[in-house]
This record gives sequence, structure tokens and C-alpha cells, in this order.
Amino acid sequence: MPGEINVGLMGLGVVGGGVAAALLGRPEELTKTIGLPMNLKRILVRDPDKPRESNIPADLLTTNPEEILTDQSIHVVVEVMGGSQPAARYIKDALSAGKHVVTANKEVMARQGPELMSLAQGNGVNLLFEASVGGGIPIVGCLMKELLANEVQSIRGIINGTTNYILTRMANHFTDFHQALAEAQDRGFAEADPTNDIDGMDAAYKLAILASLAYHQQVRPEDVYRQGIGSLEAKDFRYAQELGYAIKSLAIATRDNGAIRARVYPSLVPLDNMLAKVDGAYNAVEVDGDLCGKVLFHGLGAGREPTTSAVVGDLIEIGRKLGTGGRPAPVTQLDGKDRILPIDDMESRYYLRLNAADQAGVLAEIARILGEGNISIASVLQKDTDQAAQTAELVITTHPAREASVREALRLVSNLEVVREVNNLLRIED
Ligand SMILES: NC(=O)c1ccc[n+]([C@@H]2O[C@H](COP(=O)([O-])OP(=O)(O)OC[C@H]3O[C@@H](n4cnc5c(N)ncnc54)[C@H](OP(=O)(O)O)[C@@H]3O)[C@@H](O)[C@H]2O)c1
Repeated sequence: MPGEINVGLMGLGVVGGGVAAALLGRPEELTKTIGLPMNLKRILVRDPDKPRESNIPADLLTTNPEEILTDQSIHVVVEVMGGSQPAARYIKDALSAGKHVVTANKEVMARQGPELMSLAQGNGVNLLFEASVGGGIPIVGCLMKELLANEVQSIRGIINGTTNYILTRMANHFTDFHQALAEAQDRGFAEADPTNDIDGMDAAYKLAILASLAYHQQVRPEDVYRQGIGSLEAKDFRYAQELGYAIKSLAIATRDNGAIRARVYPSLVPLDNMLAKVDGAYNAVEVDGDLCGKVLFHGLGAGREPTTSAVVGDLIEIGRKLGTGGRPAPVTQLDGKDRILPIDDMESRYYLRLNAADQAGVLAEIARILGEGNISIASVLQKDTDQAAQTAELVITTHPAREASVREALRLVSNLEVVREVNNLLRIED
């Protein structure tokens, strides 16, 4: 049992800066909470000459990862560099060297989580990753501990703050997508290259982590169906509100009859649903378990302080175990054998918006194609007639229908001479 716990920090950016400030700024409180002093021994950075916060002693900085990975006195490595490599390699090397690891890296955990968890188990060390999903929301630990007694039926969440900020702006001010994105970038809610957020990749990484933990088997990012938010227009929010819905980018994993389906897409959510009220950069995750029922987690999904809360929480957990000589608890075995299916056979209600000739018989032609695909229309709104172009916008909602049938029907509809463009297809999550 060590007399003190030494930490090697890899990364001193948004999250690393917060973690360093917490470790250096309140040592007495941490010692009291853990039962042992926790020291920040070394910090890996890329550029040693970058201006840093003044309270970071310059002699802690290094550009050589081996000064952390091979230092026998370092018990815990905190990886907050981001990206897949060299982060994944450093995590592996640290675990192989018998060091505990805390990481905030969703990409590495989504792609290599099961392998790294086995490596940690084999080496008798902890690998904790609370900060990889939902920033300050304690969802990962709950799926690994408090909710373990449940068979999880579904996970449904808003787990990307950037897209939620953009969609909230579009909904509240009917702002155009590109303007809302520019505002998100100005206010620091979106990165200079927001592709991973906009196209749903970031949420797919996080959903892969949550679904793997919930269903005890590896769900890979590639298993997650993705639709980004780039096709949404301000008018979609107007029409959705008229129909009684908000539009949210939802990450959903369900298990039904031994089959898992995972998807990230913008969805219509009834205005009185809790998820419809999650606005701005906030995140929320609803877990539906057979014993606990629906449990909702809500909070700040990113940012220095919330993410520091998650990382330092993991550090405290490891510190306490080290302090009492406790071995790491067995990790959830990700050896489930359920089928992971595409969403083709999924049933949902749909919202579709299309632009068609403003003439008699158009709706009948569209309805015929939908009917032949067993898709029954629930409502039709005719909107925004363009007198000059002699076109009108049609917003159609359907009763539950099979995903693949809806897509095939839309392909046929888009080939109709009277249809100028199929603008949007969204699922309705009642
Ligand atoms: N930001 C958030 O709100 C948030 C929330 C949840 C999870 N996360 C996750 O936390 C991780 C870190 O995010 P962040 O926003 O803190 O990133 P960041 O601000 O870009 O900081 C990255 C840090 O890692 C260092 N670094 C990067 N590559 C390196 C390399 N090859 N060798 C040595 N040092 C390297 C950089 O060094 P220099 O300082 O010298 O450039 C920098 O200090 C990511 O996995 C991210 O997904 C972030």
C-alpha cells in the first residue's frame, strides 16, 4: 500500500488544465477525501513553450511520454490528450506497466474499450472513463455499478452539446443552420472543424460506449446508424412545433427480442417529453431498466469544470482503493451474444418534407406509392406555396412503418415528375 499516490497527466488542454488545477489547488481536501496525499508528478504536453496557467510549475512539464510510462513511482496515468493515437498506445503501455488509467477519450474507449478493459483486468488495475460520455453527468459509472442489476431496455439521450446548442438556436429563433453553427463556434460550443459533431460521429462514439456497458457486449461505432443535422432547416422547426414536437438529435440504443439496434439521428420529440426540454449545451440520458424504470440523467455534457469533476471523481475512486489495498472490482464482461442489427426492420413514425408541383392529383400519387409500401399517412400539411414556381411544400407524417419500406417509397416518390425534391426524412419518437 503506497504512502502517497503519484499521478502522471497526459494532456494539459481544456480538461487537463482543469485536472491539474484541481490536483494542485486543493491538496488538503483531496488528502482528506482519499485518505492519502495525491501528487501531480509529471505532465505530458506537445509544446513546452506554450503559455500555461501561472500556477503550473514548469518543471512538471515534459514532452517525453516515457517519463510517465516508465516512472515506477507513478501509480495513475490520466490520459486527456484526445485523438486515437498515440493516446491508445499510451493507455495500453500504462496498463501493461501496472498503472491505473483514467481517460476522457471517447474515441479510444468506443473503438478499443473491451480490449483495454481486459488488459486492465489482466494487470489487476483500474481503467475508468467517466468523462468519456456526458461530461459531468455520472452515467458511465452508474451503468458499471448502480444500474447493473437491470436488464436495460433502452438508452435514449442527447449526448452532443454542440448539436443541441445549434438545434436550440434554430428552434427558438428559427435561425438558419449555418448561422447557428457560426454562433456556436463564436461562443466556444463548437470546434473550428465541427464535422464529428454535425454528422453524429461524436454521439456515435458515446452511444457505442453506453450501449456496450448496458448490453454487456461490444457495440462498435460502426454499428451505430447515423444521420447528421446538416439537412435541417428553420422551417422544419416551425412545422414540427405546429405538430406538437421539438427536434432533437437523439442517440438511441434498444434491445428487443435478443437484437440490439443503435442509432443517432435528429428526431421529432413530443414537446411535453423531458428530452424536448433539454436545451443549449446541456446533455441528458434516459436509461430504461426492468427494475429501475426510467431514470433520467441531466447536466453539462462538456467543458473544463464538468469534465474535471468526472476525471477527478475517477481519480478519487482509484486513490481510495489504493489507500485501502483494495483490488479493482471485476469489470463488466462484454461477452454478450445478442445480434446487432441495422435499423432497416425498425418501426417508427416518420416526418417527411418535400417540395412538389402545386397541382391537383399530386398528393394522390404520393399516397399511392406510400400505400403500396404499407405506409399509412397520419397527417398532411401544405405549406409555403411558391406562386411563381407553382410548387408547394408538403409535410407528411406517417403511422408506424418499417424503415426500409419508407426509404424505398421515398426513392420512388423522389422519381415522380411532380416531386421537385424530398427535403427531409425524420423519425418521430413518441
Ligand atoms: N473539452 C471538453 O469539454 C471535453 C469533454 C469531455 C471529454 N473530453 C475529452 O478529453 C480529451 C481532451 O480534450 P481537451 O478538450 O482537453 O483537448 P485539448 O484542449 O486539445 O488539449 C489536448 C492536450 O493534449 C496535449 N497533446 C495532444 N496530443 C499530444 C501528443 N501527441 N503528445 C503530447 N501531448 C499531446 C496538448 O498539448 P499542448 O498543450 O502542448 O498542445 C494539450 O495540452 C479528449 O479525448 C476529449 O474528447 C473533452
